[in-house]
Amino acid sequence: MLRQRGCVLWFTGLSGSGKSTLAAALEATLLGEGHAAFVLDGDNVRHGLNSDLGFSPADRTENIRRLGEVAALMADAGLITLTAFISPYRADRDAARAAIGGGRFLEVFVDTPLEVCERRDPKQLYRKARAGEIGEFTGVSAPYEPPVDPAVALDTSVLDLGACIDRLVALLRERGFLPDSASPAGGGAA
Ligand code: ADX
Repeated sequence: MLRQRGCVLWFTGLSGSGKSTLAAALEATLLGEGHAAFVLDGDNVRHGLNSDLGFSPADRTENIRRLGEVAALMADAGLITLTAFISPYRADRDAARAAIGGGRFLEVFVDTPLEVCERRDPKQLYRKARAGEIGEFTGVSAPYEPPVDPAVALDTSVLDLGACIDRLVALLRERGFLPDSASPAGGGAA
């Protein structure tokens, strides 16, 4: 019915690396092509479902555990599910992969250097972390463990948004989650 197969694109990277921006833009592109996609985002999920969780290692692990389960259900429903959480611990991402099923879990490493994320600092959180006003801040006073073998790595300080989205749509086609052509009639290039 949906002309697609449910899967999870699991974006991981530092705060300010571009996860939410990429996920939102990919969602808009997919919706525009008539596909069903949905973004789960660290900043909004933490206001509701996970409002009881902070940023200790145990709370981050529980945050990712719950979101792995939610993402698995969304993939079961046939959605191209896009998750945008820092998800700093490799073991937590591996547990999410196991909960979702490795065949439909695509790890997307948003590999933007810390210096660039810190320069962007859209929420002024790096500044506060450096000033000691926020503790356990990823990249400053808490660890980030990069993926070992991501499906794709994107450095948003090198690639522009359009190039990143093209790579992600191509990945979804290569892996068989989207049909070969965006156009049902097999129309020409845009
Ligand atoms: S995760 O580590 O558990 O995956 P998640 O992606 O849900 O984190 O939330 C990260 C967002 O929370 C950041 O983009 C930032 O806006 C905010 N935040 C607040 N405090 C922290 C902190 N100590 N470390 C990282 N992010 C924080």
